[in-house]
Amino acid sequence: MAPSFEHLLDVTIEHLERLKSAGHSRIQIDPQSMETLHALAREKPSQASVDKVIPASSRLKTPPISSARTAAPIRKVAFSGLPAASQEEEDLIGRVDTWPTLQGAEKDAAMERLMAQATSCVRCTHLAQSRTQVVFGVGSVHAKLMFVGEAPGLDEDRQGEPFVGKAGEMLTRILEAMGLTREAVYIANVLKCRPDTPGNSFGNRQPSPMEMQSCWPYLMDQIKLIRPSVMVALGGTAVRGLLGRKTVGITRLRGQFQDFRGIPVMPTYHPAYVLRNPSKNIKRQVWEDMLQVMEHLKMPISAKQRQFFTK
Ligand code: URA
Repeated sequence: MAPSFEHLLDVTIEHLERLKSAGHSRIQIDPQSMETLHALAREKPSQASVDKVIPASSRLKTPPISSARTAAPIRKVAFSGLPAASQEEEDLIGRVDTWPTLQGAEKDAAMERLMAQATSCVRCTHLAQSRTQVVFGVGSVHAKLMFVGEAPGLDEDRQGEPFVGKAGEMLTRILEAMGLTREAVYIANVLKCRPDTPGNSFGNRQPSPMEMQSCWPYLMDQIKLIRPSVMVALGGTAVRGLLGRKTVGITRLRGQFQDFRGIPVMPTYHPAYVLRNPSKNIKRQVWEDMLQVMEHLKMPISAKQRQFFTK
């Protein structure tokens, strides 16, 4: 159910007060959002949707619905190095069943607005300078299945699309084996810019905790818009970025559904890891994780599919 205007106003005021007590005296808000807010206040709607009250395009500048982890002062640091959200911040983001639901063209438009905002992001000044472009996400905003990777590499930075290099080819093959296409799912990364490699024009590096934290609101808003039935976290960094904790190792965690605010998350090996370790055993493990995802989504699974990588 869409939150009422009054509820949204309360949450907004609370958030602004927190920002103020953290020493912020100004926030940025674009004129269009300001006008929308004024118009809604004049109308006093009782059940305005979040998207109408605070267009996605302004969520990251104004009191963000989902950026509590970055906007609030850092109180404690989880052992992954990522700041842990307070209970209050956790409550603000809520669980999937409390998120507003957008449908059809409205959903597409909201994602477009979020993308436009991400495209001009300069939160990580070093990455804004080094990137060719922001690599936002690809696929269907109406997808039931969402894949989350680590960060764009060189190929993705050049082409502006996640998972288009060698690891991307592997991911596409996994999707095809599942009977899916890239267009039928949504693919995004924890970090939307290629981590810079000063002094080297080639090579990739893992995102830092600060970069992940800074980019987190974009991923959170992507997830909130899509509301996927299942997510797949590709590799340890994606698990850390999504679940906010360091796991003992992806080897131990993979194959076991985790919870992200009511959405099941299947951790599995990163396609790049599979490329580096192309044993049948590793491929079978990834495949078993995908079979679990398919079962969860009630997708048809043929006898042949069940047997992949067993012989
Ligand atoms: N690896 C990732 O994690 N994401 C990409 O987009 C490409 C490679």
